[in-house]
Amino acid sequence: MHISPYTVDEIRNRVDIEDVVSDYVSLKRKGKDMWGCCPFHNEKTPSFHVRPDQGFYKCFGCGKGGDGITFIMELEGLGYTEALKHLAKRYGIEIEEEELTPEQEEAHSERESLYILLNFASDYFRDLLWKQEEGMKFGLSYFRERGFSDETIRNFDLGYSLDKWDAFIIEAKKKGFNPEFIEKAGLQAEKDGKIYDRFRGRVIFPIHNTMGKVIAFTARTLKTLTKAPKYVNSPETEVFHKGKILYGLYQAKQAIRQEDNCYLVEGQTDVISLHQAGIHNVVASSGTALTDDQIKLISRFTKNITVLFDGDEAGIKASLRGIDMILEGDMNVKVVAFPEGDDPDSYAAKVGPTDLVKFLQQTAKDFIKFKVELYAEEANKDPLKKAESIKEIVNSISKIPDPVKRTVYLKECSKLLDIGEPVLITELNKIILTANRKKLRKDKPAFLPEEILQVPEAESSIKLNLDEIIHLQEKESIRLLMNYADQMLEGTGYDLKVVEYFFREIDDGTFTHPLYKQVFDEFKVAISDETIPDSKHFLHHKNESIRNLAIELMSRKYEISDNWEKKYHILVSQEEDLLKSASYTNIMRLKFRIVQKMIRSNMAEMKEETPDLQEKYLKKHQQLKKIEMGIAEVLGNVTV
Ligand code: CTP
Ligand code: MN
Repeated sequence: MHISPYTVDEIRNRVDIEDVVSDYVSLKRKGKDMWGCCPFHNEKTPSFHVRPDQGFYKCFGCGKGGDGITFIMELEGLGYTEALKHLAKRYGIEIEEEELTPEQEEAHSERESLYILLNFASDYFRDLLWKQEEGMKFGLSYFRERGFSDETIRNFDLGYSLDKWDAFIIEAKKKGFNPEFIEKAGLQAEKDGKIYDRFRGRVIFPIHNTMGKVIAFTARTLKTLTKAPKYVNSPETEVFHKGKILYGLYQAKQAIRQEDNCYLVEGQTDVISLHQAGIHNVVASSGTALTDDQIKLISRFTKNITVLFDGDEAGIKASLRGIDMILEGDMNVKVVAFPEGDDPDSYAAKVGPTDLVKFLQQTAKDFIKFKVELYAEEANKDPLKKAESIKEIVNSISKIPDPVKRTVYLKECSKLLDIGEPVLITELNKIILTANRKKLRKDKPAFLPEEILQVPEAESSIKLNLDEIIHLQEKESIRLLMNYADQMLEGTGYDLKVVEYFFREIDDGTFTHPLYKQVFDEFKVAISDETIPDSKHFLHHKNESIRNLAIELMSRKYEISDNWEKKYHILVSQEEDLLKSASYTNIMRLKFRIVQKMIRSNMAEMKEETPDLQEKYLKKHQQLKKIEMGIAEVLGNVTV
């Protein structure tokens, strides 16, 4: 089944971007626009911007942009159809479905089929636990012995898988599920050509996505004396990417928002025990190293993470490194180390809920402070280790994006380690500089303005090459066209629209950037049909790159950027009034850069020639130089 185009239209028309975004971001109005802190990256000052009248959002920090539907797709991690369904539900729109061709059906519904099968499996395992003899005898009693209440067991949808080779596969086939999907859902394993259930004789922990759909399982053995692994997990599938989910997030997300803090633990049982003790804002990385995606996932709900460690020192030091990544995400990190030999689950069982809550409150310590103390202790015992410790700590501090925070931590660290601040600052600068250099090499300066503007002070000396400047200038032409194409250049002696003026002054071959050229060509085609594309044309363009470009260029960015004005002499203030001179200047600047490029390539060609043939190039050089000077003069005159 497929959502009918009629319903899609209805949803599109009803979706109110301000409304949709406000569910996740608190927005403040400024003129026509709304501003807030971007939900897709970490920030303190709002660079996330919504245009209710145009129906789009755009973040000037991370570049994400789109309409209400893409917003839901991104934020809730949904596919297009799922996002539509989500919005339909929110607005109470009834979904009318239509038949697809068999091929379309297959492509569209594969994910849906996996969800249905996984949901069936989850129900199946759950029923075994509660209703079937083996399940009750081994599974249910195991959970109860661990101290899980029936309510907890139900809340987390826990289950049991029979100790048989293919009980699940047989059942699923009997219910008419396609064997291909059983494989694709990760529910079977294969060895020497024999296919059998992946989960056998184990208790089952379903893993839910943020929307509450079952996407995978993790299963614990009940045997103590066995070589088999303690946990067996679903493999990566179409719907399950281990590094992108956190166990328990579905059950925790509301509490995380309310408490404005997220406890991070290692295992499923830790999550469940804490939950039962009344601590609901807890998720698990499921025993693997935390990923960037997981941190981003948490940062949608809070900027505060408290990491809970099992209490052994070797383990702690190893895990501390992983925490630097959380700092990089500009999150505030606290840590709690449990007493030696305990994990959150066992400790909770030992002391009970009241003492557990007290323990967490009293023990939680700012991460850097914790690290400093841990290393200070060691360094004081062994002075030779001091330098090493300092490096280790300053390295963590260097990961904090906020310079003010960094300074505060350096002071703290200087006190605790009894080392002069200047020493620490020097060390810190060394680390930051090296890191920046590495980063610059990796992603060479791009021509997109937001990247340039974002470059911190120390790095801003990067020179753009001429091609990049030309691209910028072309982009500026496109911006003027997208925003003002059909406006008249009134009172200027020209009886022309902006778009006509551009076409008179710039010819086809001028644009060098393929995307800008494509947009320019579309204006050209349109104008010969006597129509001028409006903002909707580009905002809903079938080419995604053009859509994104339109969103970027039609937002107000340029008005807020003094920098841009100073650096590239592109006019932004009261633009509509200055339209003629803006267009004119832009065109002249573009020509100016193109001439400069011609001069350079002419010089380069000349160098390749023998002296007797260089004459021709010199002549050309002089001509070009004259043009360059002419334009420079004009530009000097019109620059406001
Ligand atoms: N894990 C895994 N595979 C293993 C062992 C561990 O995937 N063979 C993951 C599981 O997600 C587990 C987490 O790592 O929850 C932490 O492992 P561990 O501390 O050994 O398990 P506990 O959560 O303490 O489980 P239990 O209390 O049931 O022993
Ligand atoms: Mn445990």
